[in-house]
Amino acid sequence: MARPLEGKIALVTGGSRGIGRAIAERLAADGALVAVHYGKNKSSAEEVVSAITTAGGNAFAVGADLAAKDGVRTLYAAFDKELQARTGATKFDILVNNAGIAPFVSFAETTEEVIDEIYAVNVRAPFFASQEAAKRLRDDGRIVFISSGVVRTPLPDVAAYSALKAPIDNLVKTLGVVLGPRAITVNAVAPGVIETDMASFVRDPNAAEGIKAKQALKRIGQAKDIADVVGFLASSDSRWVTGQVVEASGGSALTF
Ligand SMILES: NC(=O)c1ccc[n+]([C@@H]2O[C@H](COP(=O)([O-])OP(=O)(O)OC[C@H]3O[C@@H](n4cnc5c(N)ncnc54)[C@H](OP(=O)(O)O)[C@@H]3O)[C@@H](O)[C@H]2O)c1
Repeated sequence: MARPLEGKIALVTGGSRGIGRAIAERLAADGALVAVHYGKNKSSAEEVVSAITTAGGNAFAVGADLAAKDGVRTLYAAFDKELQARTGATKFDILVNNAGIAPFVSFAETTEEVIDEIYAVNVRAPFFASQEAAKRLRDDGRIVFISSGVVRTPLPDVAAYSALKAPIDNLVKTLGVVLGPRAITVNAVAPGVIETDMASFVRDPNAAEGIKAKQALKRIGQAKDIADVVGFLASSDSRWVTGQVVEASGGSALTF
């Protein structure tokens, strides 16, 4: 049976670890050729590429520091070069804006530097990565952002991060309208707490119990729980869904 993303090409930012890795593996398992982007961890990205290849998929790694002003230009210079070599063109189908940072800094301790870095990686980079993608995406393409449940219920320990995820939920609506005439859909997934390096605090059993108490579903979310939602949003099954934020949080904070 043909795999759902056979013949498609995907770029996953921050594919070297955590949620991005699980997304890269899911899209590759579905048949896409996947560009696994990394910031600092080239060897982790190469390990993801090797895991995908071993499982019978196709992938390659591309590096770029998305905190840097020219980060998105660097990303597409590497991506275009790799795609040209493999396909003879720079067209692709699916962009997943996943890379992000979440420094644990309270409201009182937040500095301009902290705000600037979060803004650069979590807002500016996905904005311009999407602008560049729009020039290259084939019709019926997909852009998926990774937002966060903290837009609905902010976490005071990450005050700036919470505030700076909100623009993503706004942007999916604009881009959904702008790209809709080309049948390109634009959506976001808003995870609750997911066990990755970013939310490593849940590896503490007491913290894990506190998180589970706030969720309808009584386990700690895993990267695959998000990757499977992205898999749907990247597929043709989601063709009539655009401009939406899908919360995937095990039913966090559903009631007062
Ligand atoms: N984990 C959660 O509980 C949770 C909840 C809601 C939303 N999210 C969102 O999910 C996304 C992925 O989070 P995660 O938990 O998987 O985080 P993670 O394990 O810390 O991984 C972060 C990824 O982003 C990349 N990255 C970070 N800074 C970068 C930079 N300056 N330039 C380029 N790449 C950079 C990292 O690449 P390198 O390692 O190669 O530098 C890594 O691949 C983020 O957008 C996050 O806000 C996470």
